Formats: sequence, C-alpha cells, structure tokens
Amino acid sequence: MSFVRKEVSDGVAILTIDRPDKLNALSSEVLADLDRAVSEAGKNPQVRAVVLTGAGPKAFVAGADIAELSKLTPVTGREHARMGQAITTRIETLGKPVIAAINGFALGGGCELAMACTMRIASINAKLGQPEVKLGILPGFGGTQRLARLVGKGKAMEMCLTGDPIPAEEALRIGLVDRVVAEGKALEASVEVARKIAANGPLAVAFTMEAIHHGLDMALEDGLEFEAALFGVCASTQDMREGMAAFLEKRPAKFQGR
Ligand code: COA
Repeated sequence: MSFVRKEVSDGVAILTIDRPDKLNALSSEVLADLDRAVSEAGKNPQVRAVVLTGAGPKAFVAGADIAELSKLTPVTGREHARMGQAITTRIETLGKPVIAAINGFALGGGCELAMACTMRIASINAKLGQPEVKLGILPGFGGTQRLARLVGKGKAMEMCLTGDPIPAEEALRIGLVDRVVAEGKALEASVEVARKIAANGPLAVAFTMEAIHHGLDMALEDGLEFEAALFGVCASTQDMREGMAAFLEKRPAKFQGR
C-alpha cells in the first residue's frame, strides 16, 4: 500500500498523493512514499515529464500532518524540515519537468511542494497559502525561500506573516501559479502541457531547466556563460542531430535522450 498512486503513459508519469480523507496531508509515511515515487520517475527512462496532483476534488495537499507536527521535539522538528526540504529539492532538480496540478487547497507543505515544481496549473477553486504562523511555526519545506523568489519579498512576507490563503486568480496575478483552469480541469491541463514537453528533446529540456534554475542565482554575465556552455553541450547530442534532421525532412522528431 502506498499513499502515492503512479501511472505512466505517453512519456508522462502522473503521481497522485492519495490520502483524501485527510486532504492529502503529508505524514512522514506519505512523504516517504512521495520521495520514492519521485525518485523512480526520475530514473525511469520511459518518463520524460511528471504531473503531481492530489486525490479527491478538495485538495492538492492541505499541508504537513498537524497531528504529527504536534509531537515534534527540537531534534525531530529539524529532521522533519530537512526531510521535506530534501523532497522539494529532489523535485526541483529532478532533471525532468514536474507540473503541479493544483486541484484545491495547497497549504503549508502543499504550497511548498507546488512551488518546488517546474510549473503550477491551478483549478479556479484552488487556494494557496502558508498558514504555519497560525500554528505557531514557520514554513519548513522551503516556503520562506521559494515563495519570496517566485512572488517577491513583500508578497511573500504578507502571505507567510498573515497566514491567509489566496485564491487561484490572485495566485496567477502574482506569479505563484502559471495558469488557472476551470474547476476539475487542472489534471487534464497539466497532462496536456506535460505531453507537449515530453515530445521535445529530453536533454534540451533538462539543460533548459538547469539554465533557468541555476541561472537565477547567478550574476547575468555568469548565467549567460552557463547558457552558452550548455548550448555547446547540446551540439554534441544525437538529439540535436535528430531534431534538425526531422525538421529538414518534414517529419516528427524521435528523440532518444542521447
Ligand atoms: N494535517 C492533518 N490533518 C488534516 C490537515 C493537516 N494539515 N488538513 C486537513 N486535515 C484533516 C482534518 O483534520 C479532517 O480530518 P477528520 O475528518 O478526521 O477530522 C480532514 O482532513 C478534513 O479536513 P476539514 O478541516 O474537516 O475540512 P474543511 O473543508 O473544513 O477545511 C481546510 C479545510 C484546508 C481549511 C482545513 O482542513 C485546514 O485548515 N487544514 C490545515 C491547513 C494547515 O494549516 N496546513 C499547514 C500545516 S503546517
């Protein structure tokens, strides 16, 4: 029995966090299952893009499991945060795009999971927030860091300090989600984008993510140098030859990731 359902088709793995009776709250068991599922998707050559979602119509993930949090000690609290941070970093640096299909509440650890993803597509009924301060704690799975990077310091301060969730359309306006779709359509829309990416050159996709992700923490000059180096590496790949041959021969490319 796993708290994460997996299905793979057409190069896309759909990972569904499956604990709907607790709004998919992240207990340590759920986190361990998620970590395993994400790692497997990363290693599986059939998988070129991943969609992460929550079971049921109400929630993506309503946060870390508060029943478990209530028993933390300073030592286990640090371990818990480090475990959540390791998973979010694994998602962020998987080398394959991970799209969060946010089908409802994405609160606390749920918002942090979504922020570690490559892109976020939310249904109109979604609500996102970092309500930890209402429980006397702060975000511990990277929320204080990734939220400020995504939406800027002031908005991140407002969200983390009031703890109030924001609706999908406001999240879109401030750049916390990338697209808003009709209720019940987040998964479908995310799979559509994932399939589109999965058809592209996997090495080019991986290098592009690296260039944008690491480049953001570099001076512009260094980021441009990094981009140029990756561009040069691309020129050594069979994928580049295949992509260009396919264009010139007016046929779809068949990329091998080599
Ligand atoms: N941890 C553990 N259990 C949670 C949970 C969490 N983060 N979020 C929801 N649940 C559980 C509830 O305890 C409830 O369980 P029960 O049926 O056994 O009592 C079940 O999920 C349904 O949640 P409920 O609160 O009844 O749904 P609601 O529609 O009234 O409210 C929320 C939805 C999301 C507003 C509310 O559940 C909530 O505030 N959750 C906590 C959000 C949070 O603070 N997350 C950050 C944690 S650090």
